[in-house]
Amino acid sequence: MSTPVNDFIDSYISSGASRFHMPGHKGACKLGIEQRDITEISGADYLYDAQGIIGQSEQQMSRAFGSAKTLFSTEGSSQCIKTMLGIMRLTSEKQRLSVLAPRNVHKAFIDACILLDMDIVWLYPETPGESICCCDITPKQIKQALDGNKDIDCCYVTSPDYIGNIADIKSISQICKAEGVPLLVDNAHGAYLGSLNENIHPIALGADICCDSAHKTLPCLTGGALVHISKQAPKEFLDRAKTVMSMFGSTSPSYLILQSLDICSDMLASGEFRQKLSQTVCALDKCKQRLAALGWKLCGDEQLKLSVRASECGYSGDELANGLRKLGIEPEYSDSEYVVLMAGIYNTRNDFDRLVSAFEKIPVKQALRREIVPLCQTKSVMSVRQAAFSRYRTVSVDDALGKICAMTVTACQPSVPVAVSGEVISQQIIKILKRYSIFEINVVY
Ligand SMILES: Cc1ncc(COP(=O)(O)O)c(C=O)c1O
Repeated sequence: MSTPVNDFIDSYISSGASRFHMPGHKGACKLGIEQRDITEISGADYLYDAQGIIGQSEQQMSRAFGSAKTLFSTEGSSQCIKTMLGIMRLTSEKQRLSVLAPRNVHKAFIDACILLDMDIVWLYPETPGESICCCDITPKQIKQALDGNKDIDCCYVTSPDYIGNIADIKSISQICKAEGVPLLVDNAHGAYLGSLNENIHPIALGADICCDSAHKTLPCLTGGALVHISKQAPKEFLDRAKTVMSMFGSTSPSYLILQSLDICSDMLASGEFRQKLSQTVCALDKCKQRLAALGWKLCGDEQLKLSVRASECGYSGDELANGLRKLGIEPEYSDSEYVVLMAGIYNTRNDFDRLVSAFEKIPVKQALRREIVPLCQTKSVMSVRQAAFSRYRTVSVDDALGKICAMTVTACQPSVPVAVSGEVISQQIIKILKRYSIFEINVVY
């Protein structure tokens, strides 16, 4: 168990060296963290050619996740998602690749497809869902899609989703393996899944590559993220990974974030995170039981999320979130249907008590009557890249019917696309755009 990056920085600080290198703050404390914020000085290694302290910390992390290789990112899963698809692109003989994906992807996936000129084959749930965040796909649907389209080069699944639903990665990975198609998982919300009593991290369940936002569920600074490549993945994935990641990142990665990832790596390797996580999961589970007894309708599968179907309890998600805010609870996310709260290992007993007492103060009411606007099959007439880079004009969504979406439109949070570049804007898309308070859209000239 070790923290090589932090140890190096400790010894650099105590050496008292005069800093004639970047960053310009020279370690002078305004924020209080500047001393630890360094650049690639001698001995500090290079993130994109990590053979020293960063490499050692990555290897420790890789062992904790049981991967063949784990790469640190200081620019979130947004960078890691581009890296995962970039690996597909750089290891294929084909000029254009096709990726199969349930529709509830994060914006970074679309950006990657635009940049790498990849085609997307969308999957929609058999029973239309009520939120763009959710896309309940069965392994059978994945099989049918792969059987029906031999041009698909990889399968990409977002799990857990923002609401806390977890896909059946084990079955999906078996299908992908049988079809000879790599499985990529956006596990941004699930870095902790390998530290539960039952290891349900995508790498353990058969994914070939996956990304985790360490900052979402591990005690890591914002921006810290991981790409894991599994032991069963082709060796060329390992060889290309760093080069691809560097294409999507700054040449000045944050050493503060690297130190934070280094600490997480140590906490995972030593078992400290696992032990604290089990206490947190237990505390949150007790809260869930109490809330359910009060009549609150909970949803989702995740053990670190508390997701409330607010509309079934008489509130819009945003109204309930405001009510909680007034009682000192700041949720992660809300929309017209849901409120999502995320717990972490440093939430205190007092936090959990406050959470329960806030819900006790808000009365559960009769379910709201609301119109469900599921996202139905969309029609694409241009590639995402072609449409995203087309000349465009901005129109009111009311005037957008039948026009072609230029730059993909996502609701600000959760950054899931409503209209994707190249799609014909339908009445349904217009309704969903309005639901997310989006009133203008860029359309191809
Ligand atoms: C499902 C999903 N994937 C990817 C991302 C991007 O992660 P990051 O913020 O680490 O770049 C997010 C961000 O919220 C997300 O919800």
